[in-house]
Amino acid sequence: MLQLLALAAAALLALAPTAGALPKVSRVGKYLYTEDGNRFFIKGIAYQTQGRKLPTQLKHNLIVFYSPPPVGLNLSFIFDTSHDFLVVDNLADSAACARDLPTLQKLGINAIRAYSANSSLNHDECMQALSSAGIYVILDLTLPLNGSIDTTLPAWSTNTLDQYLRTIDAFEKYDNVLAYNVGNEVMTPTATQAAPFLVAAARDIRAYLNSISSSALVGYAAIDGPASFVDNEADFLACSESASIDIFGLNNYEWCGNEPNTTFDSLNSRFANYGVAAYFSEFGSENCNPNPRLWTEIPVMFRYSLHSTVLVPAINLVHFPLSEPMTNVWSGGVAFSYFTDMSKGHDFGMAALSPDNSSVTTNADFDNLAAKFNAVTFVNSPAKGASTPSLPSCPSPSPPGWNASNTLPATPNDAACGCLANELSCVFTPPSPDYMVLVGQLIGIACGLVAQAGGTCDDISSNGVTGTYGRLAMCDPTIKLSYVMSQYYELNHRVNAACSFSGNATINASAKPSLLAAAAASSCIPSPAIFTPSAPPVLVPDAGKKSNSTSGGPTADNSGHSTNGGMSGIVVSRGLLVGVTAALGCVVGGMIWTLA
Ligand SMILES: *[C@@H]1O[C@H](CO)[C@@H](O)[C@H](O)[C@H]1NC(C)=O
Ligand SMILES: *[C@@H]1O[C@H](CO)[C@@H](O)[C@H](O)[C@H]1NC(C)=O
Ligand SMILES: *[C@@H]1O[C@H](CO)[C@@H](O)[C@H](O)[C@H]1NC(C)=O
Ligand SMILES: *[C@@H]1O[C@H](CO)[C@@H](O)[C@H](O)[C@H]1NC(C)=O
Ligand SMILES: *[C@@H]1O[C@H](CO)[C@@H](O)[C@H](O)[C@H]1NC(C)=O
Ligand SMILES: *[C@@H]1O[C@H](CO)[C@@H](O)[C@H](O)[C@H]1NC(C)=O
Ligand SMILES: *[C@@H]1O[C@H](CO)[C@@H](O)[C@H](O)[C@H]1NC(C)=O
Ligand SMILES: *[C@@H]1O[C@H](CO)[C@@H](O)[C@H](O)[C@H]1NC(C)=O
Ligand SMILES: *[C@@H]1O[C@H](CO)[C@@H](O)[C@H](O)[C@H]1NC(C)=O
Repeated sequence: MLQLLALAAAALLALAPTAGALPKVSRVGKYLYTEDGNRFFIKGIAYQTQGRKLPTQLKHNLIVFYSPPPVGLNLSFIFDTSHDFLVVDNLADSAACARDLPTLQKLGINAIRAYSANSSLNHDECMQALSSAGIYVILDLTLPLNGSIDTTLPAWSTNTLDQYLRTIDAFEKYDNVLAYNVGNEVMTPTATQAAPFLVAAARDIRAYLNSISSSALVGYAAIDGPASFVDNEADFLACSESASIDIFGLNNYEWCGNEPNTTFDSLNSRFANYGVAAYFSEFGSENCNPNPRLWTEIPVMFRYSLHSTVLVPAINLVHFPLSEPMTNVWSGGVAFSYFTDMSKGHDFGMAALSPDNSSVTTNADFDNLAAKFNAVTFVNSPAKGASTPSLPSCPSPSPPGWNASNTLPATPNDAACGCLANELSCVFTPPSPDYMVLVGQLIGIACGLVAQAGGTCDDISSNGVTGTYGRLAMCDPTIKLSYVMSQYYELNHRVNAACSFSGNATINASAKPSLLAAAAASSCIPSPAIFTPSAPPVLVPDAGKKSNSTSGGPTADNSGHSTNGGMSGIVVSRGLLVGVTAALGCVVGGMIWTLA
């Protein structure tokens, strides 16, 4: 079957029109335009298999060792209550892409959104098939587990930067990458401290894209919430010329069933003057009346003015009357979701797979979506350059609902962190490739011990609320851990027992005998700087074992406790966050598990 599907894919590629590359899309002011000067709107669908949930004990082993899981693995673990996700890279599955492309084309879409990609895999067939069909890709650079900036213990560090850059390197050869997202639903209404790290990520990814002459947009997909949160979040992400996203995505489910056409009025007036492009990075509320979904928001979202000959500069509107087009404010949206996606007991999926995965069956939601999407006519105004509102102001220090510093962390520096790793006296020795959870635990333990011995973990800590960033906060977590272990060892006059950590650490006999970790940091780590990152170090599968590695290894997993995996449709207005907090050693902040 796979062979047949692969042939089908090949045939499809061969038959596809040999049209030139898809036109580049760029942002001018708050709108998107293709090279020919026409406005561009996103008319898309989320194309991502929902991550399978794994129990805490097994997930890391599974991800590192067993991808795909071997025969005989007890798969009933999979629907555990844990909220971590196994990476599914749909864009690497060429047979599935060939299977799905005709179905996607029925929707009349011009974009899909994919939530995770594995840069080690080949994406040629899917990306080229999509391109031939005129479909752009909005790609999240994040991975589940430690592959994203964390909601409550955020950092912008070499391992995450390098993962993002590797993904960009794997996708830049395609002509249909519309945007790269630096995060999905990382900030929440109760935890906004990741904001400076996300903006730093946008800044450094923008610089890298510029350095490789990429025109892809830099985006972020935001969880919805109270206006006090969403508005500050949107402003924060776009308030600096040198560190701004190009496109703000809002995962918005407020239109539910037969909503009145005034439903988006509040959003419209709030975003009327927004300085960069904005779109709905997810939409399509489930379990509404009527059900299946009628998608009545689509004609509203893409509606053009009935008075389009009367020019009303939208940027001056404070109240947004119904008769004015939403297209003056938004650049389209991404319907959620192609694949089955369970959230709160409801399935947002519109295409079900046959048991052998060879065919898809679409549902009534899909048919209704196709009807509405195919009826959309894009407006072509304002003209390129006609409206370029200024960027928003950064939120004033502590507006209600917002808790983040305007001081950004520096660009993560692989060379500096690698230099330090080579000089440390006591080095973390991962007992297995499955080490990212252990690293978190050991940092907590080691920081506790260092504090008792009179030291601090300030060097490795960062705080997005106060805008203070330790000089090592940008380094890979394994290097941070080795640094703290070395400090403890040195505070204890280098007795062997102080560099054991129950067998998780090893003395480096080759390290300079009297060099203190802090002094090594002073010589290796320059003052914080903003610079254009260069291509990331080559990925070594067991990178964490190498002393001079600056990369956390291929699975670098993130908390995944936020919906960083991004595969959950969330109806914010229906009660969203359930938080549980836990202290973790010296590291500032708590952890929040969000139930999606
Ligand atoms: C598989 O896992 C489930 C859930 O933990 C357990 O109840 C079941 O006994 C396991 N089956 C086997 C064959 O180990
Ligand atoms: C809502 O908007 C749609 C699309 O413009 C229009 O067809 C419909 O009549 C409107 N409904 C109401 C109640 O205004
Ligand atoms: C079908 O696809 C799903 C999702 O990609 C995968 O988990 C499953 O193993 C596949 N089943 C078969 C029979 O290939
Ligand atoms: C902001 O963060 C500070 C320090 O973490 C905390 O004390 C304060 O309660 C927070 N304020 C809000 C509004 O979340
Ligand atoms: C990685 O994520 C896990 C939770 O999924 C967390 O326990 C651990 O501390 C994280 N590791 C690091 C180094 O951040
Ligand atoms: C490493 O540290 C963990 C957590 O404290 C501990 O359970 C384990 O026994 C230690 N040693 C090894 C070799 O993993
Ligand atoms: C030990 O220190 C030497 C000399 O600084 C360095 O070259 C080497 O990479 C270090 N080894 C480990 C395991 O950290
Ligand atoms: C350390 O880094 C150097 C240069 O980046 C590389 O040649 C060497 O193989 C690395 N050593 C280890 C043990 O990773
Ligand atoms: C990416 O793919 C490679 C090659 O199949 C695999 O070894 C690795 O575990 C994958 N990484 C993730 C994060 O799934």
